Amino acid sequence: DTSGTATRYVAAIDQGTTSSRCIVFDSDGSIVALDQREHRQIFPKPGWVEHDATEIWAKVQAVVAGALAKARLRPDQLSALGITNQRETTVLWDRTTGRPVHNAIVWQDTRTAALCERLGGQDGQDRFRESTGLPLASYFSGPKAAWLLDNVPGLRRRAENGEIAFGTIDSWLIWNLTGGTEGGVHVTDVTNASRTMLMNLESLEWDPAILAAMNVPEAVLPQIRSSSEVYGTAVGQLGGVPVASALGDQQAAIFGQACYGTGDAKNTYGTGSFLLLNTGNRPVPSKNGLLTTMGYRLGGEAPVYCLEGSIAITGALVQWFRDSLGIITAADEIEALAASVPDNGGAYIVPAFSGLFAPYWRSDARGVITGLTRYVTKAHLARAVLEATSWQTREVVDAMYQDSGVHITGLKVDGGMTANNLLMQHQADVLGVPVVRPRISETTALGAAYAAGLATGVWDGLDTLRAHWQKDAEWQPRMDEKTREKEYRRWRKAVERSFGWQD
Ligand code: G3P
Repeated sequence: DTSGTATRYVAAIDQGTTSSRCIVFDSDGSIVALDQREHRQIFPKPGWVEHDATEIWAKVQAVVAGALAKARLRPDQLSALGITNQRETTVLWDRTTGRPVHNAIVWQDTRTAALCERLGGQDGQDRFRESTGLPLASYFSGPKAAWLLDNVPGLRRRAENGEIAFGTIDSWLIWNLTGGTEGGVHVTDVTNASRTMLMNLESLEWDPAILAAMNVPEAVLPQIRSSSEVYGTAVGQLGGVPVASALGDQQAAIFGQACYGTGDAKNTYGTGSFLLLNTGNRPVPSKNGLLTTMGYRLGGEAPVYCLEGSIAITGALVQWFRDSLGIITAADEIEALAASVPDNGGAYIVPAFSGLFAPYWRSDARGVITGLTRYVTKAHLARAVLEATSWQTREVVDAMYQDSGVHITGLKVDGGMTANNLLMQHQADVLGVPVVRPRISETTALGAAYAAGLATGVWDGLDTLRAHWQKDAEWQPRMDEKTREKEYRRWRKAVERSFGWQD
């Protein structure tokens, strides 16, 4: 009889900034099959970034079919489906036709900088920080929704009439997966909601005062649910599978890394990098440019909060080096090029392509390359590209210390760039603590699968999940402190050069 084991697989959809994946896991948390597809990046103007939400939904359906085929599984062999997603990216769609009313505005998009400045008024950037944990910055979804309501002709009236739905990508996918115009459920989870700047961090409900200030009608909003519960049942190719988790991708990664204790931290290296520290059941306010945000909430249990250091551009700088400068033809070539010289030759690159996020929150910043001399070659620049990631992470770790008083003793890492040895060594060097990578580096999808499987009984609790975590590689710091601090000073000087380029 295989009926006992037949339903113990869990699928996760990881809808990221540049691609969508579907990964099927078994009950040990091991990968059974993976499928992945990229989608278009649309750059209508400098600083603007859009996605086509219809294309994203099509790519998600394709990778689900691909992963099931590779795993040789039927949908009825899946115990649950989990969702994790690029956060903040904003979609408004017509509830009757199911069509988006505009391209999705991506988290990196800076078009709402002036709107955010106006919203701050005399109180400035921290006007909503106490209730939402966030500074007013173009990163978050609420102002993006307000921008669409103001700029798409006739949209505000339709939204007020209840004809329009707002969602981050989790909501958009869950609505489509559970039937779309034929009865799809319109929900989001607390982690995604915490990035809208519209949710109150204590009550975990939409905040009426902020909705009024941003002029976002309540009629467009999804219902806020926990990160691990059955929201509905999928129709179509996944017909019958419970849709049982939603987590923003960085929160899914901290969950997949088994950071369940207060003081546990991880850094994920993707398009950007996001370092999250579990602060337990209370939100901890930041005075040093970090975000206070949700970690996860499992069903009716007490919510878990995090401090987050968000870095907008890390892996995306390697892509830019490859696609826009053409110095390399594949991303993984950067390691050999960088390793062909012993140091950066004095060059620093500050990739403020979307302004600077943590700990600065400066939408006026733009990218700079400093320290150029005739000595500098493309190999030095390759090093500077990689080092930009580790220095930005160092700044965030410093801010974590200043906010929490906790010195991290090691850093759990995951994401694509953790395959780069030179970078991971430099990361350990500039932090002065070991950097540790787990055996399953797909922690984002794993975290979504865990949360979904918890909701449907595949796993019985966090201790079981914690026991799955295994170390794969570790890098020890080797740089002497004097060199580290000298180079860090240079990095910060370079950062100052990036301020004030966009007015
Ligand atoms: O907040 C943005 C973040 O969720 C994007 O993550 O991995 O798609 O770059 P990623």
